[in-house]
Amino acid sequence: MASTFPHPLPVGWFALAYSDELKTDEVQTVTALNSELVLFRDADGAPRVLDAYCAHLGAHLGVGGEVDEGCITCPFHAWKYDGTGQCVEVPYGHTPPNAAVPSWPTCERNGLIMAWHDPDGGAPTWDVPEIPEATSPEWSDPQRFEWTVRTHPQEIAENVADSAHFRYVHGTKNVPSTEAVFEGPFRHSRNPVNLDTPKGPVDGEVVSSAFGLGLVTVRYKGICETLQVGSVTPIDDETVVIRKSFTQERVDGKNPEGGVAAAILRNVVSQLEQDIPIWEAKIYRDKPMLTSGDGPIMPYRRWARQFYPGDD
Ligand code: FES
Ligand SMILES: [Fe+2]
Repeated sequence: MASTFPHPLPVGWFALAYSDELKTDEVQTVTALNSELVLFRDADGAPRVLDAYCAHLGAHLGVGGEVDEGCITCPFHAWKYDGTGQCVEVPYGHTPPNAAVPSWPTCERNGLIMAWHDPDGGAPTWDVPEIPEATSPEWSDPQRFEWTVRTHPQEIAENVADSAHFRYVHGTKNVPSTEAVFEGPFRHSRNPVNLDTPKGPVDGEVVSSAFGLGLVTVRYKGICETLQVGSVTPIDDETVVIRKSFTQERVDGKNPEGGVAAAILRNVVSQLEQDIPIWEAKIYRDKPMLTSGDGPIMPYRRWARQFYPGDD
């Protein structure tokens, strides 16, 4: 039988939490990227991500560990690690110079805390761009949705290139034409849309950008200006967490409510819920049988190969 998820976990930036979920002096445990991780803030407030297991006798730093002046103290024998994972203090003995736990490159941007995943330990090769609306006071408070799905990031990102499924899974009136532009680790596309709203069908445009396989922005234009920040984080080889955070341009200083504003969110959420059973049951065809109306599936796959550098 063809393999369900033949790809390893991709290289790139992946969301571990929303910024407002990680308070100062708090330790959070995150299971993601085939790893057990701890998340905390250093003395400057910057998020840090370390492997969870202590270099000493392997206690889990997230189970009773405490943050002290931006360092994390192990709950078992109080060895203390800084944000780079270096052990900086053993309170009852000498500090072995090599005592350290692996640390992950981390960034906090657009309301998300993200970690750079590279199984070979390489440094980040690109930055997560700033998305101005995501943190702008002119835009509404975020509305968030989250799903755990049995699939791989490769499959989720392929959805945008798969033009025909919009007609048959999501019930769009036609098969949309998808123009995709590939730019290094980024991919941009633009689609006209026709959205059913309580006030009848509305024409608009959807502009979407992917930053690797872990982060997308989708802008719904011409309807009720809406930004979706979507992230996909692999938990293990066959499970992902999908987060979607929506913000909408405020009108007269107020959050847009009801009507078209709510219809856009409902539409995106229900589309995702239509995709989930298909993703969870499908296999990955490495050499698919394609037809003329299919979208740019193979260009998408060629672009995605850069995220599996060891896989050639
Ligand atoms: S196991 Fe962490 S200090 Fe001993
Ligand atoms: Fe879809």
